[in-house]
Formats: sequence, structure tokens, C-alpha cells
Amino acid sequence: MEDSVTKMSPDSLQQEAIGGLASVTDAADLEAWRIRFLGSKGRLKALMSGIKAVPAAERGAFGKAANAVRQALQAAYEARLAELDAAREARPAFGPVDFTEPGLPPRLGRRHVISRTIGELTDVFKGMGFTVATGPEVEDTWHNFDALNISEDHPARDPADNFYLAATQTPLEEGAGTSPHLLRSQTSTVQIRMLERQPPPLRIISTGRVYRPDEHDATHYSMFHQVEGLCVDQGVTMVDLKSTLYRFAKAMFGPDADVRLVPSYFPFTEPSAELYVKMDVGRGIEWVEIGGCGMVDPAVFEAVGLDPEVWTGFAFGLGIERLAMRRYGIRDIRWLFENDLRFLRGV
Ligand code: DAH
Repeated sequence: MEDSVTKMSPDSLQQEAIGGLASVTDAADLEAWRIRFLGSKGRLKALMSGIKAVPAAERGAFGKAANAVRQALQAAYEARLAELDAAREARPAFGPVDFTEPGLPPRLGRRHVISRTIGELTDVFKGMGFTVATGPEVEDTWHNFDALNISEDHPARDPADNFYLAATQTPLEEGAGTSPHLLRSQTSTVQIRMLERQPPPLRIISTGRVYRPDEHDATHYSMFHQVEGLCVDQGVTMVDLKSTLYRFAKAMFGPDADVRLVPSYFPFTEPSAELYVKMDVGRGIEWVEIGGCGMVDPAVFEAVGLDPEVWTGFAFGLGIERLAMRRYGIRDIRWLFENDLRFLRGV
């Protein structure tokens, strides 16, 4: 064996090696080929060391021929390596695609818990004959304060408690009047806008965002949602107010729900009350304060040019975050607005 190798001619080695390269199909084959022919104990090395046995007169030619073979094999090796690399890159990282496989199911989104709550309570009030009204979020101080009987010196108007807008800040939402502007701090503005627009009797609710410059913490946020209700007719009494809220509570929170009105004060209602709802808060039944209400103050009717001797009404304003958080056991208001998918998928 040793003999036949050493006696092998450069030509026949080249032929054999190039022939062998044709059956190389991957990197491992190629490496085996390289070791076999070009390796330190390989066939070319053996050919070269056979030079000692070549007659002196032929050594020069033999050496040249052997060198040419080395160059040829090295070049052939590199060319094949480049081919294999190119083929690997052209091939997709994944296997052949099976188009008969069912696709990945699309991830379904869902409505935000605040939107769902707004939808539910709107349905309940619609069922009681209320229609839905809207008002601008950029308001004037007439609708946000004056017409609601909130006097010039009332602390609720404090610049530290409101987002007043610089006079130059435009454009304003359509319908915002001409007195100084602010981001509305309550949806009670819509009471005034509706009474200005539509002669009573009327029964409306309005849901939307309100803004107050509160530091963000677990229970405060600079923007939140309220639902406002207003019913104006002749002969409306507190019985109408309480029975409306009672039916709302039952429809929203189930047959065990109940309401309690606790005397309070708001400039735009007289008498005024805080509304407590008895509801299941997950770990048990609790009385939860969800907003304010009362009988429309005569000063409000006067502000919109209605005769308080003729017209009567009730109003209420509820915090939607408060309601949703207690109902679903959401412990931090910030979670509602951070859009963390782990939270959004859970509620
Ligand atoms: N606007 C009040 C607030 O933001 C809530 C409120 C209380 C609304 C009494 C009413 C009402 O309509 O009658 O604190």
C-alpha cells in the first residue's frame, strides 16, 4: 500500500482527488476530503515525500508537477467550500413549508375594561329612557363652573386643581365658548350644554374623560372618566333620583346590590348626596362610594334661563374608574392606562 502511494504519479493523484470532490455534498464531506488529500498526513504529503525515491535527473520535474497538483487541489477545495457556503445561505433556515398545516390562530383583542363598563352602564340607563349626550373636553369656565353655581372664589376653581389653558392655545373644540378655557374637571358641564340646547323635559347621560392635575398614585390619575346623568321635568322628586340609582345598581351589580344616599354638598344640587352602592367586591359585600347626586339647584335653572318654579330635576355624577376598580378588584388606577398586556389580558 505504502509503495503504491509513494509511486503514485502527481497526475493520477490529481485525477483521483478531483474525482473524489465531485461526490462531496456537505461541509463534513469536504473536511474529510481535505484531510485525506491536503492534510499533514494526507496523500499529497505522501506524494511529496516520495520525491526521495525519484531518480535525481527527474526530481526537478517531479517537484514542479507535485507543486502544481498542490495548487490545483487547494484551489478546487476553496471553490467547493465557497459553493457549499453559497448553497447554505440560499437555503431558508426552516424546512419546506407545508401549506396544508392550519395557520397560527390570530390573537384576539378585547375591549378595555373602562370601555366595557361605559358600554354596560350606558345600556342600563338607555333602558330607563335616558339618551346619550356628549360635550367637549376643552371647556370654558362658564360651563365648567359659573353656570353650575360654582362661584368665583370657590376652591374647585383653583389653578392648582385644574388644567387651565393659555389664551393662545388653539384650536378649541367646536362649541367651547369664549371665557377662559380649561380641560373640563367634571362631566357636569354637559348638564349645562344640554339645558342650553334642548328645552325640557329631558333625560340624558353623558360619559367621558375629565382632567385634574393630581399626582399619579394607586388611586389618583390626572385623567379619568365620569358618567353624568340629568333628568329635568315638572314634578321630579328625590324618589325619582333614588329609584333610578337603585335600578341602575341592581342592573349593573346584581340582585343583591343596594344604594344609600348620604347627605353632602355640591353647588349645583340642593339637596345633595353622596351615592354609596352595596356591591360584591370579590372578597365580600361592601358599601362603595361611587359618586355624587342631588336635586338640580334653582341657580342652575336660572343660569340657563329656565324658571325654577316650573322645572325640577335630579342629577348625578359617578366615577367610572372607581366603579370598575372596585367591581373587578383592580388595586391600582395606573394599571388601567399603562397598557401592560399582562394586565389587559387579565381583566
Ligand atoms: N361633578 C361632581 C364631581 O366631579 C360629581 C357630581 C355630584 C355630579 C353631584 C352631579 C351631582 O351631577 O349632582 O365631583
